[in-house]
Amino acid sequence: MTIELDAADFLRDTILSPRGAVTFIAVLIAIVLLTEAYKTDFAKIRGVPELPSALPFVGHLHLLGGRSGRNDATVFTEWGEAVGSNVFQCSLGNQRTVVVNDWATMYALWIEQSQQLIDRPHQPGFVDKLGIDLTGSCMTDQIRKCRAAGMRALGKPNWHKYYHLLEPSSSKFISSIFGRSNDGKTPLDTYVHLRHIVFDLCLSLTYGARFGDVDDDFMLNFIKSINAVSAVRSSTKAYRHFVPLLRMIPEATSETISAERIRRRHRDILFNNYNDRIAAGETVDCIVAALGEDKLTEEEVHGTCISLLQAAPDTVASGVYQAVAWLCSPEGRPTQQAALAAILEAYGGDRDMAWKMAFREERVPLISSLNKETLRFFTFAPYATPRRTVKDVTLPNGAVLPKGITLIMNAQQVNHDEAHFSSAWSFQPDRFVDSKPGLPHVAFGAGSRICPAVNISNRIVCALLTRLILAFEMEGSKEPTRAPNVDAIEFSDVYDELVAHPRFYDCHFKARDSAWLDKILAEEKATAMASAA
Ligand code: HEM
Ligand SMILES: *[C@@H]1O[C@H](CO)[C@@H](O)[C@H](O)[C@H]1NC(C)=O
Repeated sequence: MTIELDAADFLRDTILSPRGAVTFIAVLIAIVLLTEAYKTDFAKIRGVPELPSALPFVGHLHLLGGRSGRNDATVFTEWGEAVGSNVFQCSLGNQRTVVVNDWATMYALWIEQSQQLIDRPHQPGFVDKLGIDLTGSCMTDQIRKCRAAGMRALGKPNWHKYYHLLEPSSSKFISSIFGRSNDGKTPLDTYVHLRHIVFDLCLSLTYGARFGDVDDDFMLNFIKSINAVSAVRSSTKAYRHFVPLLRMIPEATSETISAERIRRRHRDILFNNYNDRIAAGETVDCIVAALGEDKLTEEEVHGTCISLLQAAPDTVASGVYQAVAWLCSPEGRPTQQAALAAILEAYGGDRDMAWKMAFREERVPLISSLNKETLRFFTFAPYATPRRTVKDVTLPNGAVLPKGITLIMNAQQVNHDEAHFSSAWSFQPDRFVDSKPGLPHVAFGAGSRICPAVNISNRIVCALLTRLILAFEMEGSKEPTRAPNVDAIEFSDVYDELVAHPRFYDCHFKARDSAWLDKILAEEKATAMASAA
């Protein structure tokens, strides 16, 4: 009896009192928050070292996304060293994530258990705003169809359709350099023009359009919206993509949504142009035309095309730009002479033939090697693109990673693994001259979701390098702010995005033989005009 009374008194004095109720609710919230605070989507995985000192809610996210003044891959390397293991687990918000820093483990997972790594982690609040998105989606039947269609369009049997685009646009590029370089006295930055070549090709192979078809503002705004979307993809910059609690707070206006709207508007204009040409009886050879045969819906056609355009403008351009950065730097200049000799040797001294065949075959081992070494050494996607497992996978040490876990390949570190590449941190242009077939590096990722454009990208980089080397002696600017940067990591000043971006630089292009260059450019122009007529 007394006890019951005491209890009732106690209740009345404590949680039933107004002050008590507030305290009670506060304690309840605190308990809920604390249990939420360290919750991850998966429990700690046995047999994989865990990075200590996760913060509540954000895990280790506060050190990523450029917040440490370095790119995520560099931070992952430091974490691996701190826990003394090439493989470790950490928490990106509530996402338990396994990071792989070495070639051997990468190979055991991405290649030997490739099909188990075929999904991508969901990036909530981003990928769901894009429509069909090849790069950011799990491998559903729809994505499988779109990827297959994209692969077909980018595959070797179709390349012959692209030569008549790439050859004149690369000629125009070289001709423009030639015209503006003032015999090598005026330093030039070629980035924007390089991006133009690659984007032009991709516009043509997707919607059958050309850069020249529409005014520059149209294209530049299109690229701007594409880059705004790319800036968010798989980036660890936005806490809300990783911390569920933050997503309860409504977002004012999402940059992704507005960029996607602009992207879509541009896409529709391209598609209307295409339809008008078809209605006028023209045959337009492009993915949109071919995808009809792949039995894709209109939405899937657009999804495939926009996914390709999305990935296109900066990557290949950066490859060529950074290869030239190295070639025109004090360290790389002697290799220009060696590369020219290798090109001429492969074509029995016939530089006209070397020029004409640049896009049509890959016959110069030193150029192929130089391209691979550029993509290895300067890893443009430093942490590739994250994957998610669709089945349990087994690490070389026997530890089992559960189905559904996020896996990150630290491509920058894997590409510089001393156990796999000798003198991994030095740039050796002939490193791959005698290499065996197989995966040379992981700049394009590896395995079941490897970049579908790997082969065509390699061909374009090699071809542009061949033509540039045939045409010019290249010398980087000596101005401190405009000299090429050839550091394996510091070449890029982008730390908070999936894709690195070379620092801009100037280069002096001096024609090796002006008369010959005039002649070969004029010949190609004539051929292009004849085939257009
Ligand atoms: C030097 C140039 C390029 C580099 C370094 C590069 C790099 C990459 C990487 C690292 C991935 C992730 C692969 C993985 O998860 O294993 C990827 C995927 C992809 N790339 Fe590329 N890429 C390049 C050029 C291109 C171009 C020109 C296109 C389009 C025409 C393109 C379209 C794509 C697409 C659609 C995916 C997603 C594939 C999927 O998730 O199934 N890439 N790329
Ligand atoms: C690239 O070419 C190689 C050799 O022809 C081929 O085995 C591979 O499947 C191609 N890769 C892609 C992604 O198209």
